[in-house]
Amino acid sequence: SETLQSADDVNATPARAAVKSGAELSIVLPTFNEVQNVPIMVDLLHKTLEGVDWEVIVVDDNSPDGTSEAGRRIARLDPRVRVIRRIGRRGLSGACVEGILASSASYVAVMDADLQHDESLLPEMLNELRSGEADLVVASRKVEGGTIGEGLSKVRAWGSNLANSMAQKLLNVTLSDPMSGFFMIRRDKVEELTPQLSAQGFKILLDIVSTAKGALRIKELPFTFRQRQHGESKLDTLVTLDYFGLLLAKYFGDMISVRFLMFGLVGASGLVVHLIALRIFLVAGAMEFNWAQTAASFVAMTSNFFLNNQLTYRDRRLTGIKTVIGLFTFYAVCSVGVLANVGVADLVYAKPEYWWLAGTAGAIMGAVWNYAASSALTWKK
Ligand code: GDD
Ligand code: MN
Repeated sequence: SETLQSADDVNATPARAAVKSGAELSIVLPTFNEVQNVPIMVDLLHKTLEGVDWEVIVVDDNSPDGTSEAGRRIARLDPRVRVIRRIGRRGLSGACVEGILASSASYVAVMDADLQHDESLLPEMLNELRSGEADLVVASRKVEGGTIGEGLSKVRAWGSNLANSMAQKLLNVTLSDPMSGFFMIRRDKVEELTPQLSAQGFKILLDIVSTAKGALRIKELPFTFRQRQHGESKLDTLVTLDYFGLLLAKYFGDMISVRFLMFGLVGASGLVVHLIALRIFLVAGAMEFNWAQTAASFVAMTSNFFLNNQLTYRDRRLTGIKTVIGLFTFYAVCSVGVLANVGVADLVYAKPEYWWLAGTAGAIMGAVWNYAASSALTWKK
């Protein structure tokens, strides 16, 4: 019939046929401000993946430079390209996981969109997975034949080595380059692990490998890390801090979340801030102790609030008027936290020589309360 005929015509076009059969490989490209790089990247993928059923999933965190729009302009003409635009969320690991979960291919690759990763390695990586002998193929800069090339500055290279050896020692990870952001993996494997992965942070590969605890068969292939062509790196001090959070959380076998650790670190910094402020109010302000102590508490709570908003909850960061409301709910939460702290300390305090036990129990109680209450009230989802 007429309709059947036209449906056949549509299916006969190569693009439709490729989509209909479903991609075998999804390339997840996390992006933040990569407007110039994405089109080049897509061209390179077309060249290198000829003969493969592939698709690319650009996961963009609403980049101000218009990466999402640029990606969609390409997607309108090129059925191999899909774009996920995330609004109100930031983070490399989370973006990668979201891209992987949006795929229905058997295999997924994660690579940087800034042309630092050598796309010509993809066919070989795919063949390793197809052979069924590996679940995960990592492009490594540290195995024989691989190099960091021009990709990292001296300082970054040193930091990267340190981070590597810490991961290898603390987490028993045998990978030569667990910081690599370039790998290909069976999608079903990631899906099994996803509930235990931390959406925060930069190190999705390390997270996957340490969470899998040796259950993945891994193959490493060498590659040379290239220099970034356009735009700039997003790896900053926050990312480094976050890495230590991930290391500790994984080291403690996920009993403690990265977020709680961050919250605790910020809390510890708050104590320092508190003592400095107290000293200033007492000496320079000549304030009475109780007033100075109260004022110092507010200084410390304010500092904790902004640090948590920057670090601990940067994926739910409050902005504008919400920051003000958040600050006041945080004051309220922490005030109750002080009561919980003193209450528990009082209960535990039996003998003068155990003052430290009572004090610690109180502090832990206060921190747990502050964390639970502020995540439910101040930074609610
Ligand atoms: N969606 C999203 N959200 N993408 C992001 C974000 C984010 O918050 N931050 C960075 N990206 C994207 C970048 O646009 C880029 O495509 C890729 O993630 C890597 O980011 P870069 O900023 O280029 O990181 P890098 O080159 O400093 O670090 C690379 O090398 C490290 C090892 O030296 C990455 O591959 C790291 O994962 C790797 O550990
Ligand atoms: Mn880069």
